[in-house]
This record gives sequence, structure tokens and C-alpha cells, in this order.
Amino acid sequence: MDLHFENIRREYSKRSLSAKDMPASPFDLVTRWLQDAVETKTYEPTAVIVGTATPDGRPSTRTVLLKEFLNGEFVFYSNYESRKGQQMAANPHVCLTFLWHELERQIHVEGEVRLLEPEQSDAYFAMRPYKSRVGARISPQSRPIPGRTFIVQEFMKESLRYAGRTVPRPDTWGGYVVQPTRIEFWQGRESRLHDRFLYELQPDSTWSICRLAP
Ligand SMILES: Cc1cc2nc3c(=O)[nH]c(=O)nc-3n(C[C@H](O)[C@H](O)[C@H](O)COP(=O)(O)O)c2cc1C
Repeated sequence: MDLHFENIRREYSKRSLSAKDMPASPFDLVTRWLQDAVETKTYEPTAVIVGTATPDGRPSTRTVLLKEFLNGEFVFYSNYESRKGQQMAANPHVCLTFLWHELERQIHVEGEVRLLEPEQSDAYFAMRPYKSRVGARISPQSRPIPGRTFIVQEFMKESLRYAGRTVPRPDTWGGYVVQPTRIEFWQGRESRLHDRFLYELQPDSTWSICRLAP
């Protein structure tokens, strides 16, 4: 069956961005927009789409949850042997897209990724709920499994194994840190004349700012 979405249309008119409001560092605005997303109770305010690519440029994307924005760097956690993990190990160039429908806002980030220090991954892992820690240990993320029963049984076995004990972080799971070189803020406006401002990191570590056509 063919599907037609031509009549689904929404005007964006809630907010605006102007050159005079753009801070010298994009980090101030990233912070404010993340805080706005949390405070206005948007659905999954920290969800972010991570784009990775193989060394020969074949891209793939998926959603993760941002856990920290620290000193201008974005931190998320995943399985190091997953598909994205293998791509990031072979090609550190990544992008991140935050989309907050309720605020008619998007941030797009490009930069390089590295592994978080093991001690910091340990610290975050220890804060996770027991079941999430067990799940991270047993899931061979992104690899084929024989069925749901397999993963449920592995989960039960590992849960029993560590009942009442500290669940150690597996070597295959931990944090990623994205250091941005390009950050674009998008605010939806009337008649598709959206506001877009691009920050690009300069060799002297300052940021250039320019308005982009919608
Ligand atoms: C809302 C949402 C949040 C997610 N958060 C994470 C996360 O923080 N870390 C993670 O590894 N996967 C997370 N996932 C699952 C990923 O999108 C993806 O399925 C998984 O990481 C495997 O991706 P890959 O095969 O490309 O490596 C999340 C999915 C959704 C929809």
C-alpha cells in the first residue's frame, strides 16, 4: 500500500534565535538548551542520535542517552564491541543530533570520539541499577542471538551469580567522549524560515559563528 504524508504539516513558531543572543562559546547555549529540555519535561530530553561511519565512509545511526555534558564534551555509554563501537574504533569521526520536538529545536554536533577513562566508566557503571549492570554484562550487543529465551536465560544466570555482590563492569562496556569541532543550533520558525547558527572551532581554539540559510 502506498502512503502519502503530503498533508502532514506543522508550523513552527514557539521561539526564535538572533545573532545578538548567540554566546561566544556554543557550550553555554548547549547547556541552556539541554536544561530547557529537561525542565520543560520533553520526552527523553537526553536522547541523541549518534552517527558513525566505517573508514570507507558507510554511515549508520542509532539513538543513545547522553549522560554528561562536561567541559564542552558529550558523554554516552555503550558496548565497545557493538556495531557502533567497532566503527568508532576504526574511525573516530562522529556526529550527534539532538531533537526536541516540543521546543522545535535541534542541535547537530560533529567531532571526534575517544574512550572515557576506565575509572570514570567504573564510577558511572556502579551508579546504574542492578538489572542494567547485569544486562550490560550479558548482552553481546549488535550480534545475532538464537532467540529471546537465550538472552533472558543469560540474564537470569548472571543475576544469580552476582546476587548480593558487586557487579563488575565488563571490559566490553563503557563511556565514549565526543569532543566537538562543529555545533549547529536550529530553531523552527514560521514559513520554514528557520533560524540556524553554526559554530566552528578555529585553530586558536575560539569559535566562529555564522547564520545559515534555513
Ligand atoms: C531512547 C533510546 C535510548 C537508547 N540508549 C542507548 C544507550 O545509552 N546506549 C546504547 O548502547 N544503546 C542505547 N540504545 C539502543 C541503540 O539505539 C542501539 O540499538 C544499540 O546501541 C545498538 O546499536 P549498534 O548496533 O548500531 O551498535 C537506545 C535506544 C533508544 C531508542
